[in-house]
Amino acid sequence: MTTHNPDTSALRRLIFGRATCRAYLPEQVPEDVIRSIVDVALGTASWCNTQPWDLIITAGESTDKFRNALMEQVRQHPELDSDFPFPDEYRGAYLDRRRESGFQLYEALGIGRGDKERRESQSFENFRLFGAPHVMIVSVPEELGPYGAIDAGGFVSAFLLSAEAHGVATTPQAAMAMQSCFIRNYFGIPDGRKMVCGISFGYADKAHPVNGYRTRRASVDDILHLL
Ligand SMILES: Cc1cc2nc3c(=O)[nH]c(=O)nc-3n(C[C@H](O)[C@H](O)[C@H](O)COP(=O)(O)O)c2cc1C
Repeated sequence: MTTHNPDTSALRRLIFGRATCRAYLPEQVPEDVIRSIVDVALGTASWCNTQPWDLIITAGESTDKFRNALMEQVRQHPELDSDFPFPDEYRGAYLDRRRESGFQLYEALGIGRGDKERRESQSFENFRLFGAPHVMIVSVPEELGPYGAIDAGGFVSAFLLSAEAHGVATTPQAAMAMQSCFIRNYFGIPDGRKMVCGISFGYADKAHPVNGYRTRRASVDDILHLL
């Protein structure tokens, strides 16, 4: 028998209300709101309660300076330089889901399947931080290996939901981790820490077509093996 737990309605609203934002308004998020978003996300569980995440967050000019430096870096050195290996390959359902979300993105923007130039320019938006006024860089100690990254993943998820609860839109970005070494040097992230990902954030440009679609999710029966 299931019992109705009223907590699930708030959680569902946040989980299903959130979506990756890819166009922002220039308006900054007040510092006390940023602090509150982080404060809530810090409740995330981690292995042995290590809480291995460390965060750098930019605002205003420091975001613009970083955005310009990152775009220049990618123009000069577009090759992958990530701290954590990127996937070798996407297969089966994973490939299908990846493709579907890509098609949704291009369709929302009216980018045709053969339009390589516009696809590349949309992809480059990652390095323009989609126009966001803030970016957060998440790093973990190297010695914790993949488990440090798992803990950081939990934190990232909580941050996305906490931001949603504060009316703030987010873009988790593995694309930024393609430039891990450059970004660590840029921000002076100490040796021995690895960059997990970046998250651009701010207030969504709700009128922009890129923010007008929602991705699908697998059903419980697709992924659950209840034995
Ligand atoms: C760890 C992580 C990395 C991601 N990296 C990128 C990225 O580099 N660029 C991008 O546009 N979206 C990125 N996304 C967003 C995903 O594409 C998005 O979460 C997924 O398609 C589901 O859509 P939704 O977030 O709108 O629900 C990333 C998401 C996660 C969780």
